[in-house]
Amino acid sequence: MNVIEVRNLKKYYGDVKAVDGISFEVNEGEIFGMVGPNGAGKTTTIECIEGLRKPDEGEIRVLDLNPQKDREKIYKLISIQLQETSYQDKIKVYEICEFFSSFYSNPLDYKKLLDKFGLHEFRNSYVMKLSGGQKQKLSILLALLPDPRIVFLDEITTGLDPKARREMWEMVKDLKKEGRVVFLTTHYMEEAEVLCDRVAIVDYGRIVALDTPEELVTKSGIDEMVSFEVDMIDVSKLREVKGVSVVNFKDGEVVLYGKGGDLLKGIVDYLNANRLTFRNLRTKKPNLEDTFLKLTGKKYEEEKDEDVN
Ligand SMILES: Nc1ncnc2c1ncn2[C@@H]1O[C@H](COP(=O)(O)OP(=O)(O)OP(=O)(O)O)[C@@H](O)[C@H]1O
Ligand SMILES: [Mg+2]
Repeated sequence: MNVIEVRNLKKYYGDVKAVDGISFEVNEGEIFGMVGPNGAGKTTTIECIEGLRKPDEGEIRVLDLNPQKDREKIYKLISIQLQETSYQDKIKVYEICEFFSSFYSNPLDYKKLLDKFGLHEFRNSYVMKLSGGQKQKLSILLALLPDPRIVFLDEITTGLDPKARREMWEMVKDLKKEGRVVFLTTHYMEEAEVLCDRVAIVDYGRIVALDTPEELVTKSGIDEMVSFEVDMIDVSKLREVKGVSVVNFKDGEVVLYGKGGDLLKGIVDYLNANRLTFRNLRTKKPNLEDTFLKLTGKKYEEEKDEDVN
C-alpha cells in the first residue's frame, strides 16, 4: 500500500487550472517534496489530499482512506501545517498547547515537545510575541500533538533566517527518523535537495518532473561550469577537450561548460600539457536550483549562449 496515492487530480477555479491532472504516490518512510513557482498548484494539491478542498476530478487515497468520505479517520492519522496560520493574539504558548491537546483523545505530551523544540522558556509568552521561527516551531508542535503518521508542511521555512531554517530541517529529519511520512512544499531548492527523498517539480498545475533530487539534476542534462583565469589561450583547442561543449574567453577569464566525469581532468591536462599558467580554477556542478529554473521556463540555455563570443 502506498501511503498517499493521487491519480489524475484536477481542481479548477473558473478558468484557472490550479491542478491539471496530477498523479503520484508517496511511499512509507519518505520525505516527499513538491516545488514549483507561485501559483503552480502546490497548496491546492496538498489541501485536496488533506480533504480540505474537494477535487473536481481524480482519485486520492491516504492510508487507503478517502479524504472526503473518511475525514474523521484521516484526521486522526495526519497532521497539517497550513501555509498561512494565524492564532489568537492574546493567547499564551502553554494555553494554545493545552487548547489543541484537548482536541485529541490521546495527544503527545506538549511539555516534552516544548522542551524538544527549545520553546520551553517561552511557555508563558504570548504567541503574538514569538519570532517567526518560534511561531513556525510552535505550529509544527501543534501539528504533532495527535502523533500523526503523515505530516504535511506547506512552506514551513519561508521568511526564516538561515539558522532557523536549518533548525527546522533538523526537525523534519527527526520526523522521518520517528517513522513518520513527511509531505512538504518549499521555495528553497537547497531545502528540497537536503531533505527530500523524492521531489515533484510542478508548474501550471502539472508535474513536469518527479525523482530523487540527484536523478532530477542528472536527467536535466545541464552542463557543469568550469572557469579559470589565464593570460592567453587558443579557445578552439580547448573546445576539442573531451566533454567540453561551450567555451567563452573574455577579460582574461575562460568560462566553459561541459559534461562527464573526466571533464575537469581533461581541461587541467590540456592546460598543463600546453604549459598554460592558470589561476582561480573553479567549478560549479548543476544543482536542483538550476534544474528547477530550466524545467520551469527560465531560459538557462539562452543565458549560457549569450555569454559565448
Ligand atoms: N480559493 C481559490 N479561488 C480561486 N483561485 C484559487 C483559489 N485557491 C487557489 N487559486 C488559484 O489556483 C492557483 C494555484 O494556487 P496554489 O495556492 O495551489 O499555488 P501554490 O503552488 O501553492 O503557490 P505558492 O507557491 O504561491 O504558495 C493560483 O493561480 C491561485 O490563484
Ligand atoms: Mg502554496
